[in-house]
Amino acid sequence: MNIGIIGAGHMAQAVGSLAIRAGHRVMMSNSRGPQSLSGLRDAMGCETGSVADAAGFADIAFAAIPLQAWRAIPAAPLEGKVVLNPQNYFPQFGRIPELERGELTTAELLARHLPKSNVIKILNAILVEDIVPDARPTGAADRRALPVAGDDLGAKKTAIEFLDQIGYDAVDAGMLVEGWKFERRRPVYCVPLNTAMLAEMLTVTTPDAFMPEGHWRYQRGIRA
Ligand SMILES: NC(=O)c1ccc[n+]([C@@H]2O[C@H](COP(=O)([O-])OP(=O)(O)OC[C@H]3O[C@@H](n4cnc5c(N)ncnc54)[C@H](OP(=O)(O)O)[C@@H]3O)[C@@H](O)[C@H]2O)c1
Repeated sequence: MNIGIIGAGHMAQAVGSLAIRAGHRVMMSNSRGPQSLSGLRDAMGCETGSVADAAGFADIAFAAIPLQAWRAIPAAPLEGKVVLNPQNYFPQFGRIPELERGELTTAELLARHLPKSNVIKILNAILVEDIVPDARPTGAADRRALPVAGDDLGAKKTAIEFLDQIGYDAVDAGMLVEGWKFERRRPVYCVPLNTAMLAEMLTVTTPDAFMPEGHWRYQRGIRA
């Protein structure tokens, strides 16, 4: 499949390299244009283009830019497509009132901007530096699971299959409105967990369950 990545930074490169390894074609993009990405193209073996090019290229799009730049993600070329959303909210880069008030999850914010796309919350609850080293083949005993949320079941299935291809199990956390369960500072955020552990922790996560920033450093999970 064609994976069109909006962004060319740490997340784009980690997920893009695993997607290429899994046999997908990848196009990277950024705000500065493809001429700024020639080194990355040569190093990774990816294609490069404008943001609109990457969105048009995509069978699956990966929105790997800061959350506060969500309006730069083009709606028209993404209509009818699966859009993977790993974006986390860091208020120090710009407060977003709907998120502050808890009226929307981060994925619902993007879904509101892309009403004709199928937005899936995925790959946000893992540190970027863990993405390549923690990837494992299907069925590996120490395989890590990641939470996924989405409103469209077909799109969620596509996203979960992609996650499997790049090295991870998935736990379905429900619809986009339930995506708060694995956003920043939630108990499962960035903690390496297997499927059973992740499913159990998501089940017991309540709206008032917030952890200190950086809590994952002290959680043992499947690295116990
Ligand atoms: N880092 C992590 O551990 C981690 C983990 C999970 C999820 N995430 C999420 O993943 C997303 C990307 O994080 P990252 O760590 O990869 O950030 P990053 O390394 O800073 O990369 C951000 C990329 O977005 C591009 N970009 C910024 N504004 C843009 C715009 N308006 N239009 C097009 N491209 C734009 C940047 O390129 P230009 O500035 O050149 O345009 C850059 O290539 C964030 O939403 C973050 O919350 C990060």
